[in-house]
Amino acid sequence: MLYQFLEQEKLILDILIIMEINSKIVIRPIEPLDREWIIDLISERWRSTLIVTRGVKHEIESLPGFIAYLSRDRVGLLTYSITNAECEIITLDSLMENKGIGSKLLLTAREIAIKSSCNRLWLITTNDNISGLRFFQKRGFQLVAVHKNALEISRRLKPEIPMIGLDGIPLRDEIELEMRINH
Ligand SMILES: CC(C)(COP(=O)(O)OP(=O)(O)OC[C@H]1O[C@@H](n2cnc3c(N)ncnc32)[C@H](O)[C@@H]1OP(=O)(O)O)[C@@H](O)C(=O)NCCC(=O)NCCS
Repeated sequence: MLYQFLEQEKLILDILIIMEINSKIVIRPIEPLDREWIIDLISERWRSTLIVTRGVKHEIESLPGFIAYLSRDRVGLLTYSITNAECEIITLDSLMENKGIGSKLLLTAREIAIKSSCNRLWLITTNDNISGLRFFQKRGFQLVAVHKNALEISRRLKPEIPMIGLDGIPLRDEIELEMRINH
């Protein structure tokens, strides 16, 4: 009985902490001063500052985007690219997971896509990113294509891409997700 009570107390405390953190997350556009931090973060997480999606090279330093701040600390980054009335999320990284940072960055990308009169917000993830697939689908994205063996092309442009991805899953395919935007 006491154990159950303590468990519930802990759960309530956890929820209050998350709510407190969530209300303190501020999203700001990337500024020149952020350059070094972005290079370090993307190099560490994506093995180089070059991101390849659908056979297209994106150099991270040339992309616009947003940073999530918790007090003075940078805790998340989203970069994007707009072409032909389509907004592609190129990278999305949260440095403090399960606190609402990824969701806030995603909402900001949606606002940018709407303001830029885009018809869709879309992104590529890889076949090993099971939690990413859950995350995006729960936030309004739909799977629109599986680009079978697309990583073979990406590896020619970026040899750092490993053969094995998350949870030991062979890294092979690109999965395209989108959110349609109706004006
Ligand atoms: C995918 C990713 C960006 C999500 O970021 P995140 O900051 O953990 O995202 P959120 O906190 O907004 O949401 C994650 C979970 O926390 C939960 N959560 C968020 N805010 C919460 C809150 N206030 N209280 C309780 N739970 C909360 C959400 O329900 C969510 O779970 P769900 O996906 O089952 O719905 C992050 O896992 C990441 O950086 N992954 C590696 C890179 C990657 O895969 N990027 C995407 C492809 S480019």
